[in-house]
Amino acid sequence: MKTFKIFGIAVVLIGTILAVTTVSCSAEQVATYKNKSGAQLWGENCIRCHNTPSPAAYNDTDWSTISLHMRVRANLTKDQAKKIFDFIKSAN
Ligand code: HEC
Repeated sequence: MKTFKIFGIAVVLIGTILAVTTVSCSAEQVATYKNKSGAQLWGENCIRCHNTPSPAAYNDTDWSTISLHMRVRANLTKDQAKKIFDFIKSAN
């Protein structure tokens, strides 16, 4: 019985530690990306797989289509994608 009790306490403790670290980590990530500008997010995300094309390489209509495509490729949130492509469209 005693072993079970200790095991139970250990599980609760590990669970709490995991929950706290996971929650604080994601909250931190959200905070960092929310403070980032579209230009910053563009520089950090769009060069991971290829050289980032110049904003002038496409017109706004093309960029809207590309945003749907690259948002999925780059695994961006709606918010991040909007910031990045608003920035690109403002710079072409
Ligand atoms: C996970 C890898 C990856 C990331 C991150 C990525 N791309 Fe791409 N991109 C690709 C691939 C692969 C292609 C070639 C087309 C295809 O096969 O989807 C491509 C093609 C393109 C093209 C050519 C037009 C098209 O739609 O095919 C443009 C423009 C482009 N990417 C812009 C961007 C921008 C802007 C970002 C940042 C938001 C970005 N990419 C992030 C992988 C990526």
